[in-house]
Formats: sequence, C-alpha cells, structure tokens
Amino acid sequence: MELKNIIFNKSNKIATITLNRPKYLNALCEQLIKELNYVLDLLSKDDAIHVVIIKGSNKVFAAGADIYEMKDLKLISHIKKDFIKPWESISNFKKPIIASVAGYALGGGCEIAMMCDIIIAANNAQFGQPEINLGTIPAAGGTQRLVKAVGKSKAMELVLSGDMISAEDALNYGLVSKVVPLEDLEVQTANLAKNIANKSLPILILAKEAISRSFESTLSEGMINERRLFQSTFELEDRKEGMTAFLEKRSPKFKNC
Ligand code: CAA
Repeated sequence: MELKNIIFNKSNKIATITLNRPKYLNALCEQLIKELNYVLDLLSKDDAIHVVIIKGSNKVFAAGADIYEMKDLKLISHIKKDFIKPWESISNFKKPIIASVAGYALGGGCEIAMMCDIIIAANNAQFGQPEINLGTIPAAGGTQRLVKAVGKSKAMELVLSGDMISAEDALNYGLVSKVVPLEDLEVQTANLAKNIANKSLPILILAKEAISRSFESTLSEGMINERRLFQSTFELEDRKEGMTAFLEKRSPKFKNC
C-alpha cells in the first residue's frame, strides 16, 4: 500500500509510525486509518519488532477525526459503515505501543493516544475531547478510557466543557506517564522503547495482555488471568534464561521463545 498520510520506519526492534497529514493537523481521515492498520498488521507479523511508537509532529499529535469527512454523515451511513470500528485495531494490537505526544492530542487524537499502552508527553502537549463544541460526543473511547485514566469528575469536566489540559495537568491526573521538554521527546521516547524492546517479545505480549485484561474484568477474574499468564511463562525458554541469568549474575540473552 502506498503510504500518503503516515511515515513508517523500523530499526533495532522498534517501529515508528509518524502521523503525517500536516495540512489538516493529522486529522484522522479514513485513508490515514487504513494506512495505520496496514502497517500495524505488518508489524504484528514481524517477529523482529518488539515495540511500536506512534507520534505526530512537534505541533500536533492529531487533531481528531476528520471533520470534513464527518460533516455530512447521517445515522444510516454510520449504521452501514461504522468508520470508528477500524480504529480498534490499535487497541487490539498485541505488542507494546508508546504514544509520543507533542502539541495537540484532541478528540480522536487523544483517544488514539489512550489506546496506546504508554503516553509520553512533551511539555507543549495539550489533551482534550472537544467534540461537545462540534455538537457531538467522543466516539473512540473518550467517554470510557478517559474515565479509567483520570476518574469520573475530571473526565466529565473534559468531555462536558471541551476544554484542553496541559501536559503537566495530564501527568497529575494520571493520563500520561511522563512529561519531558519538547526537545527531549524523541530521545526519551527512544530510550524507553529501547529498554522495552530488549525484553523477551512473548513475555512482553503476555505482560501487556495481563494489564489490558484489568480494564475488561473484575479484580478476581483479572487475578486468575494474571496467574494463568504467569504460569504460562514457565513453558518459555526466556523465563528459564531470565532466572538463570539472574542467579549467574549476568544479563539474560532472550531468544524470544
Ligand atoms: N478535521 C479536519 N480538519 C482539521 C481538523 C479536524 N479534526 N482539525 C484541524 N483541521 C484543519 C483546519 O480545518 C485547518 O484547515 P484549513 O487550513 O483548510 O482551514 C487546518 O487543519 C489548520 O487548523 P486551524 O487553522 O484550526 O489551526 P489552529 O492552529 O488555529 O488550531 C486546533 C488548532 C485548536 C487543533 C483546531 O484546529 C481545532 O480545534 N481542531 C479541531 C479539534 C476537534 O474538534 N477535534 C475533534 C474532532 S471529532 C472526533 O475526533 C470524534 C471522535 O471522537 C472520533
């Protein structure tokens, strides 16, 4: 597929997807999502890749769903073709994804960041769900994941007011894992990605699965699932290598099996 709206590269177990539709502030048009899904599908099959980074430019991560494309839609067109449905492949992706956010992450942009596993924000990042100002509501998890990230009161405030919050506020509310100066964003994201990429791929997938399950289940079900996933690591050579290496006081050499 020809990539017109994203840039994609791979290096040392890390793939980076750059949203690249500058004229429209990376608005998430249908074609951009198709390209993103095409690349994620390739990456899911590529055993050499352990971690994915999704980023935008220094000015904008993404300004939301494409308002030009949505403007004339009617209920019947949503029923026939739910254009948000394909976005779910981001949240269904098995390997770790880091959102590296500078500038605006609004509406669907904030929602895509929340679909990722870790959000690192530059100090110029601004997060918000401004759909209320367009006479609509969030549709890609903004009323769901945001509550889990920041709690009901703050999620209500953001969704009902449409106001943006700064990176510092997003950190204080628990939406992002860290805030770094804009000029350090790339290096800090790469450092975290490298650290994660050096782990065993199957163990990363299981760890992500265990945490992701906590969003969908009760505590007791999540605990059972966690225990079973933990036990399943005992079938993997990398589990044995990790513990042996610790006891032999050396770094583990994971074979991803
Ligand atoms: N869709 C389509 N085009 C968009 C866009 C979007 N979401 N956001 C910005 N653009 C376009 C603008 O129309 C403008 O295009 P033209 O030059 O052709 O006029 C261009 O990008 C630059 O935008 P601005 O001139 O507005 O730039 P700014 O720097 O003054 O403001 C901004 C930046 C505050 C992000 C502002 O563009 C903005 O508020 N954008 C809309 C944000 C929004 O409402 N997002 C929610 C979308 S709905 C959604 O996402 C639903 C869902 O849950 C899935």
